Amino acid sequence: MSIYEAFEPKLNYVMDQLQTELRSYDRMRFEETGDHIYEHISARIKTDESMREKCRRKNLPENAHSALHELQDAIGIRIICAFRDDIYGILEHIRNLPGVTIVEEIDYIRHAKPNGYRSYHLILSVETAFEDVEGKTPGHYFVEVQLRTIAMDSWASLEHKMKYKKDVKNQALIEAELKRCADELAACDVSLETIRNLIRSS
Ligand code: GTP
Ligand code: MG
Repeated sequence: MSIYEAFEPKLNYVMDQLQTELRSYDRMRFEETGDHIYEHISARIKTDESMREKCRRKNLPENAHSALHELQDAIGIRIICAFRDDIYGILEHIRNLPGVTIVEEIDYIRHAKPNGYRSYHLILSVETAFEDVEGKTPGHYFVEVQLRTIAMDSWASLEHKMKYKKDVKNQALIEAELKRCADELAACDVSLETIRNLIRSS
């Protein structure tokens, strides 16, 4: 039995609804402006195995209540944008979505993590017509949203890949070099935004 018990189809439904909403907003904006608001979206339900592992790590019982009420990232949506200011535009759209409340917001773009990680994180509470894990109707489901530029996403993917290899020699040097790459990519993001503005105003 999945840790999500009978709620698994509901998680897929909430994830699909939100993706559909973002896609139709993009389509509308593209028709108006000729520009896409994001490059691509990916979404996932955290696997049974990694949700169970997270519950154990946080000393929570391995059940649907822990997975859907105590933890908030069973549903994850990642939005990859071309430019940094697109991220703040989408953020405003999400803020105004009916039935969606932002319950947590961390700007790791203006305040990068010490290792160089950049991304804008949101935890949403999405209202649904059906029951949630607490037995309430309308229900509420958490969704973790990560908004990144292509550069931020490339760095995060590579850093994540390399994190698996522990006990490497020159740990401090590797960390410093990764941080330097993140900072250089962030500087490129600023330059690319400036170039885009120059093109737009010419
Ligand atoms: P969790 O227990 O994992 O939810 O920790 P948290 O809530 O303290 O973490 P945070 O909100 O900072 O990060 C949640 C997600 O952001 C992670 O699961 C990753 O997908 C991503 N993330 C955060 N920090 C890093 C990082 O340093 N490198 C990479 N590659 N991804 C990160
Ligand atoms: Mg988290």
